Amino acid sequence: MARPRPLLAGNWKMHGTRGSLGEIAALRDAVTAGRTRGTDVLVCPPFTLVMAAAELCAGTGLTIGGQDCDPQPSGAATGDVSAEMLRDAGAGAVIVGHSERRANHGETDETVRAKAEAAARAGLMAVLCVGETRAEHDRGETLRVIGRQIDESVPPGARAAGLALAYEPVWAIGTGLVPSPEAIGEVHAFMRRRLASLLGPEGAGVRLLYGGSVKPDNAAEVMGIADVDGVLVGGASLTADEFLAIVEAKR
Ligand code: PGA
Repeated sequence: MARPRPLLAGNWKMHGTRGSLGEIAALRDAVTAGRTRGTDVLVCPPFTLVMAAAELCAGTGLTIGGQDCDPQPSGAATGDVSAEMLRDAGAGAVIVGHSERRANHGETDETVRAKAEAAARAGLMAVLCVGETRAEHDRGETLRVIGRQIDESVPPGARAAGLALAYEPVWAIGTGLVPSPEAIGEVHAFMRRRLASLLGPEGAGVRLLYGGSVKPDNAAEVMGIADVDGVLVGGASLTADEFLAIVEAKR
């Protein structure tokens, strides 16, 4: 089976106000000019910017996404935003199960699966995050943890076009630490096999991203690892220049 098309995804986390929309416009212009040719590009700003960003990017190759969604389409859930609302605002994707949500908001694998199912229901691609903590890593439990997270949070009927699976070791996020290429390769090969047993042939087309301290200077090495189909970038996605340097590093 042909390798899936690479995906470069940016997660702005709780950063950005209207003044940051210029970065999205600059990125859109670079995408339109062909600087990211051959690669899908996604940026996930905070909810408050999703609609304005999506309007700036409508009809271009730059997709805007949310960073989380509620499992329900609507309801008594003060402060939450549904997948349908994101879709209505112009989003094409949503991150689910980020470790900051799992840790700070008590999200379980079951919650994450319900969110991934909501994304599919609303026609959004889910960027589903998995990853072990430092303690789990040090105990040698990485593959066991990732296996459990995949089994319990990937919806059984998921389609390749509607899902990307991001391996984000919690200890590598925002720390400047990155696992060795061999370690990333081992986890990605494991994720590929696990998805194949869960989803059958569809599993081969799901894009596998690596995330955690990806910067312009390590992006080419990370993207060169077998079974790495893209990256999920936090801090280095906040400016168009740095994010584009990552896109261009991999080519
Ligand atoms: P980082 O974040 O690139 O700033 O380490 C990645 C993420 O949390 O998605």
